[in-house]
Amino acid sequence: MSEKKIPVIIDCDPGCDDTAALLLAFRCPELDIRGITTVSGNVSLEKTTYNALRVTEAIGSDVRVCPGADRPMFREPVYAPHVHGEDGLLGIGLPAPQKKASFYKAWDFIYEEAVAQKGELQIIAVGPLTNLGIALAANQDLAGMIKRIVIMGGAAAGGNVTPCAEFNIYVDPEAADLVMRSGIPLCVCGLDVTLKAYLTAEEIAGIKALGTPQAELFGAVTEQNCEKIFCPEGAPLHDPAAVLFAADESLFTSQRCWMRVETTGSITRGKTVTDCYSDAQKEANVDLVLDVDRERFAAKVREIMERY
Ligand code: RIB
Ligand code: CA
Repeated sequence: MSEKKIPVIIDCDPGCDDTAALLLAFRCPELDIRGITTVSGNVSLEKTTYNALRVTEAIGSDVRVCPGADRPMFREPVYAPHVHGEDGLLGIGLPAPQKKASFYKAWDFIYEEAVAQKGELQIIAVGPLTNLGIALAANQDLAGMIKRIVIMGGAAAGGNVTPCAEFNIYVDPEAADLVMRSGIPLCVCGLDVTLKAYLTAEEIAGIKALGTPQAELFGAVTEQNCEKIFCPEGAPLHDPAAVLFAADESLFTSQRCWMRVETTGSITRGKTVTDCYSDAQKEANVDLVLDVDRERFAAKVREIMERY
């Protein structure tokens, strides 16, 4: 008997790796994608929403795209054009979308869908957590209706925006800490695991050689990230790791630990503080994902991309 599909919303800031994550998510049979919500992150909200529309059209889906926050809850926006290009997709010539974004704001859609799914809704959050922070602040009963949030964000050790902070958490630390304190079951795929969840240049070339428009798009948004300082062996698939965790966590290893977010420091802004490597153990609130079977991960990515 087949497992029941998991109803999910993907909250994202496309973004190159967000695009790879969407390409994979829409061919994961385990996932019932109820909608996409967009947020200011890698590029502005206008651009992340435009990219979500044209990427989902390239996938062949008419899923609704609900725009969310155009800035963090209490801070100025932080973008990453140096990684994703000014348009958020490295200027690759993906056609303009035909469809329009929904009039529903992300936080309203998240609440409505949580009610509709009667406690079964899961969220795959691969951008700054502003939309979730707003949704939780505006709806005191929301936390009790979300089954799980799988987050790409943070790091038990290290950082990519500063030596101690990862981009998604750094951009909106207050929203991230709201989520950490919410009581919702959380699975955190931080840099600890996403830097191990890489594809080699050869593996990416092999996917691109599948020749479908979606495989070409996957190659175009991943190949440029090979052999970078953080991951000399290949291109780390940060956001796809969260999608694959949501679909098949047997690929990964996680452990229960305590995690909160630094919101007051200037040097430590956005650091995910955890007792993972500390004797100062506190009450666990997250499953921190620390390792991945990379060979199985790479094989699963290819297997999914072969479904286009
Ligand atoms: O640190 C990596 C994360 O920040 C990814 O989600 C990437 O898309 C950026 O948003
Ligand atoms: Ca992202």
